[in-house]
Amino acid sequence: MAEVRILPSRTAYSTPGETGARIVRGEGPYLVGADGERYLDAACGSGSLIFGHGDEKIIDALHAQSRKLTLFPSRHFSSDIVERYASQLLDFGPPGMSRAITFSSGSDAVEAALKLALQHHFAAERPRRRKILGRNASYHGNTIAGLGAGGFVARRKPYESVLAPCAKASHGHCAACEFGLQAETCALECAQSIENAILEEGPENVAAVIVEPIVGAALSAAPPDPRYLPRVRDICSHHDILLIADEVMTGFARSGRPFASMHWNVEPDIIICGKAISAGYYPLSALLVSERVVHGPLAHAKYFQNGQTFACSPAGAAVGIAVLDRLADGSVAANATRMGELLRASLRKELPAELIKQIRGMGLMVGFDIGTSAFENAGALSSDRYSDRFQRAALKRGLVIYASNGSAGSEAGDHAMLLLPLTISEREVKEATASLVATAYDVLKTENK
Ligand SMILES: Cc1ncc(COP(=O)(O)O)c(C=O)c1O
Repeated sequence: MAEVRILPSRTAYSTPGETGARIVRGEGPYLVGADGERYLDAACGSGSLIFGHGDEKIIDALHAQSRKLTLFPSRHFSSDIVERYASQLLDFGPPGMSRAITFSSGSDAVEAALKLALQHHFAAERPRRRKILGRNASYHGNTIAGLGAGGFVARRKPYESVLAPCAKASHGHCAACEFGLQAETCALECAQSIENAILEEGPENVAAVIVEPIVGAALSAAPPDPRYLPRVRDICSHHDILLIADEVMTGFARSGRPFASMHWNVEPDIIICGKAISAGYYPLSALLVSERVVHGPLAHAKYFQNGQTFACSPAGAAVGIAVLDRLADGSVAANATRMGELLRASLRKELPAELIKQIRGMGLMVGFDIGTSAFENAGALSSDRYSDRFQRAALKRGLVIYASNGSAGSEAGDHAMLLLPLTISEREVKEATASLVATAYDVLKTENK
């Protein structure tokens, strides 16, 4: 495979992994550069592009709706397409969800979910329930409230002084267990840490617990112990605290089910949707809200106090319907499960174990740790860390990955994800594997020099 040029960008803020190459189009699972160079896109708009680039059906749906109606003031009106989309979205989710509202990005849907939880308790005349409980090594978007609820240390750092003091429980990632326990014999101390944090804050002060059912950016595709989420659900119900599932990265079949919480039959009070909700073709996000919240104290409130210009967009609804139509027969989710298993199996077989550890994930959310010893970067952080080096080396091999850090506490621990389109074939799985294996040996070679 030809090497890709490394050029600095004059217009974008560059990050260490950037090539500076100009991308001119996307074709299925590939990004194509100005010189015709092709990258297998295993970042896919951070997991958004579940059908890859250039999907004609979705593009047509967006065009057709844009000609009819793109936006209206949702304070005064609704429209058939928005209503139809909301009901399709509710049918797609787990049972017990009874209202849907759309926004434009994962971050503003997180913000809306937190506000809805606060408004729920406010309407119930429990004004002291203001605290949001999050977890270490989690990411809930880039607003000040979302960063506060999240535990992604590097992303919080410049804003730390203004973030709300949200208590944090353990992340529940078994491979990096914060209690040093083994999954087979532990007593779910990670879930218990949520209850302990609630008791410490005072249950009467806590509005909601927010979790990523499978942790994305902060831990790279880390699924919990199967007993974990049901236990967290019980804890929240017991204390009358809302459970918010942030499924911005895990939703829409990425994990092999419509939503990841459905793997464990857990019904959250609020589900946050983003990214793949529009397959990457429109800035769209949504909340699915449970019956308990809709028909609870808020039933008497006049409205949800969170107006946004692009809320309830008809253009977004048309794209969303096209996405749900493609997912309806379950074949895309089944492919995600099959291809994800194949990818993990071939990576486990072929990647050098001295550099790549803990290959994990569910469906086509695939992650691993990077480092020549486990959590190599714990303590002093290298200025040219594995995640950056690995990402750059992958780009040179024509593979775009999503590298990150923080899996070993604070900013330590390097890791990465592959978030390929859910429609990929075995041939593309083989190509991703070959490029990643070549990348790993490139990195090892520079290591041993
Ligand atoms: C779990 C999770 N929540 C929220 C967000 C924020 O979404 P957006 O980048 O669309 O604002 C992300 C984005 O990566 C995410 O992974």
